[in-house]
Amino acid sequence: MEKVASMIFNERLDALGDSLELMGREVTRERLLELVALESSILDAVPQAIVGLHNRRIIFANNAIKQTFGWDREDLIGKSVTQLYRNREESEEIARYFYSTLKRQRTFVNEFPCRHKDGRDILCRMRAARIGDRLTQRRIVITYEDITDKRRAEEDLKRSHKQLRELSAHLQSAREKECARIAREIHDELGQSLTALQMDVAWLGDQLPADFSHLVEKTHRMEQLVDATIDSVHRIITELRPIMLDDLGLTAAIEWQAEEFQNRSGIDCHVYVDCRDECIEKDLATAVFRIFQETLTNVARHSRATAVWARLTQEGGVLNLEVTDNGKGITRKQAEDPRSFGIIGIRERVGLWNGCMRITGKSRQGTTVSIQIPIRGEVSQA
Ligand SMILES: Nc1ncnc2c1ncn2[C@@H]1O[C@H](COP(=O)(O)OP(=O)(O)OP(=O)(O)O)[C@@H](O)[C@H]1O
Ligand SMILES: [Mg+2]
Repeated sequence: MEKVASMIFNERLDALGDSLELMGREVTRERLLELVALESSILDAVPQAIVGLHNRRIIFANNAIKQTFGWDREDLIGKSVTQLYRNREESEEIARYFYSTLKRQRTFVNEFPCRHKDGRDILCRMRAARIGDRLTQRRIVITYEDITDKRRAEEDLKRSHKQLRELSAHLQSAREKECARIAREIHDELGQSLTALQMDVAWLGDQLPADFSHLVEKTHRMEQLVDATIDSVHRIITELRPIMLDDLGLTAAIEWQAEEFQNRSGIDCHVYVDCRDECIEKDLATAVFRIFQETLTNVARHSRATAVWARLTQEGGVLNLEVTDNGKGITRKQAEDPRSFGIIGIRERVGLWNGCMRITGKSRQGTTVSIQIPIRGEVSQA
């Protein structure tokens, strides 16, 4: 064992000697021993595990090898580097990859599966470098960083993001379905009864003798009340589920919503729409419509604007919606506030369609919300 250790040590001295020779320096054996001691103390100060290989044999290892792989360095010196991998085949493959890559370049970094002494699989980020300028001596040094926990945490985070996105999509679709169901019921139950009532009241009015003026007057007011109630029911149904979105498509629904908004808020609403409804699937149309509704509601509630400009266009397989107002302007803090649930809702809807969103404001000049969503099945010409 000692013989092997001293042989390996000599190899290590040779490696160092070769490197110095390449640098054009002649050194004595004593000086080399000093340098090896210095090299060891530097290697031990590094937190990552480091091994030096000659062919596939380990000729040196630092202290951190124990932390990463569980091995004492003395156990590894002189052994094949296979010890650090999951099996011989994989180890051969990795070694082949290392040597062939290092022929072409001085260093490289990659991630490989490794194995701890206790049999656990670990994932390491490995940085390999040639010792010396050329690879003729087949000596390399490898740094191992255990990234198993980090990678697992990243994957957990990705998974929980995905679950949250799915949950949000599910909730939104359930909400749309529920709205559609309520709209249908109101229409069928309340709408039909009101129409019947409207006809009955009209009939009653017709039956009354003209000299019963106070009763005629009363039925007339009842007719007006029933008409107003029918209008309210229509409005509620349309708000729950804009029928034109189903019947006439996104373009008409956006134009209708803009007009409604203008009439109700008194804020001028200019719309420019240039997109082909047949390219936009129903759920995407609903998402864009709801986003448009939320931005307009925000303009009415927060902006103190006198005008708003909306553009819905389709370019190179991407649907763009931009809504700009001339109000007080949203601040960055408001736009990024984790309690801004309206804006978070827009961002989530856009995210579900793999789109992106920007919201910017300039003090007393206005706010712009702009979203881009790729249209599935449309080839991007961008
Ligand atoms: N067009 C706008 N102009 C100025 N400020 C705005 C505008 N839109 C949003 N804001 C600001 O951003 C904040 C967050 O908007 P968000 O829509 O997320 O929430 P909200 O409208 O207050 O409540 P809700 O959850 O009902 O939508 C608002 O409270 C407001 O201060
Ligand atoms: Mg809002």
